[in-house]
Amino acid sequence: MTKQIETYIEENLSGEAKRTALELVEFLRDNELTFYKDTCDCWKDKIYYWVKLGDECVCFIVIKDLDEPDNLWTIWSDDSSAYEDASVSDKIKNVGWKYVDHCGNCGSCGGGKEKVVFGKSFPRVCGCTFRIDNASQEDLPFLKTMADLRIKELLKNDAISHYDLLIDEDNDPIHDPESLQDYMNKWDGFTFIEQMQLNSSKSVLEIGVGTGRLAIRVSPLCGEFYGVDISSKTIERAKENLAGFENVKLTCADFLSYEFGRAFDVVYSSLTFMHIEDKQRAVNKIAGLLNDAGKFVLSIDKNPSFFLDAGTRKIRIFPDTPIEMAECIRTAGLTILNQYDTEFATIFVAQKG
Ligand SMILES: C[S@@+](CC[C@H](N)C(=O)[O-])C[C@H]1O[C@@H](n2cnc3c(N)ncnc32)[C@H](O)[C@@H]1O
Repeated sequence: MTKQIETYIEENLSGEAKRTALELVEFLRDNELTFYKDTCDCWKDKIYYWVKLGDECVCFIVIKDLDEPDNLWTIWSDDSSAYEDASVSDKIKNVGWKYVDHCGNCGSCGGGKEKVVFGKSFPRVCGCTFRIDNASQEDLPFLKTMADLRIKELLKNDAISHYDLLIDEDNDPIHDPESLQDYMNKWDGFTFIEQMQLNSSKSVLEIGVGTGRLAIRVSPLCGEFYGVDISSKTIERAKENLAGFENVKLTCADFLSYEFGRAFDVVYSSLTFMHIEDKQRAVNKIAGLLNDAGKFVLSIDKNPSFFLDAGTRKIRIFPDTPIEMAECIRTAGLTILNQYDTEFATIFVAQKG
C-alpha cells in the first residue's frame, strides 16, 4: 500500500522538525489539499510530494533528500502573483523576504527572474519564489500564510473561470425566458429594487453586476450607474446588454481590491456575496464607499452549501448567514433599516449614519 506523507514524516523526522511538518500537513489537509508523491524518474526514489488544490499546485515538500544531507525537510511554494503585494503583517513579510528562493543555477528556472515579493523587488528569483529548509515552529505562521495566499488565488481564479465559461456557454440571464426570469426574481425582484429609493439624482454601484440582470432595471431609475464584476467575459457581455444606457459605467475588477476613488448614494449586491470569504472586509469597504445617509441593499442566498455545483465543475463558495451578516453590517457602522426574507434569500437594507 502507498504510504501517506504523514508516515514518511513519522519515520524520517524527529523532534521539532517532525512536529512542524505534521502540523503543516494537517493544516494543508484541512484546506482540502491533496498530496501526490512524484514518481517521475528524477524523484521516484525520493520522498517528494506535490501539494495540490484540484489540479493546481500550492506547494512542494521533500523529506530527507539524500542529495542535500544538511536538510531534514524542505518546502517550496509554487509560483504565484498572490505573493506580490499581499496585505500581510510586517512579521510575515520579514520571514518571507528571508526565504525568497534566489536562483542557485540548478537549471530548473533558467536563471530566475525579477519578482516583487510582499512589495519589495528581488532579482533572479527561482520559479517557486520561496524555499524553506528545516522549518521550525517559528516558521509555521509564515508557511500557513504562504499556502493560504495561494489557495485564495486559486479559488478566485476558479470563480472567474466559471463565470467566463458561463458566457462561452451562452448563459446570459438577460435573455432568459420569462419563467426563468421570474425564478431569478426569487432572490431579489421588484421589492428589492424598491428598497433603493432611487431617483435621477442618485449614484448607484452594483457589486457583481453579472451580465446586467438587475442593472437593466436599475440604471433607468438613477442618475449614474456603476457596475463592477471580476469576470472579464461577463463584463464584456454586460457592456453589450447595457449599451443603450448613457449613464452606465462598467469595470472588470475584484471589488475588494479596486480603488473606486469616489462615493455612491446606493450600493447593492445580489447573488454575489457567497463568493466573498472575508464578509466583514467587504461590508467595511461598502460602508466606506457610501455617501452620508447612503443605502446598502444586499441579498444573501439562503443556500448553506459550500460548493456551487455547475455540473461539469464545482466552485468553492462561502455561504452567508443572516446572523453573521447582520453583525458585519452593524460592525461596519451601518444601521439596519429593514430585513426580510424572499423565497431564496434574506434581504438587508442598511443606511450610513
Ligand atoms: C451569480 S452572479 C450574479 C450576477 C448578478 N448580480 C445577478 O444577480 O444577476 C455573481 C457575479 O459576481 C461576480 N463576482 C464574484 N466575486 C466578485 C468580486 N470579488 N468582485 C466583483 N465581482 C465578483 C461574478 O463574476 C459573477 O458575475
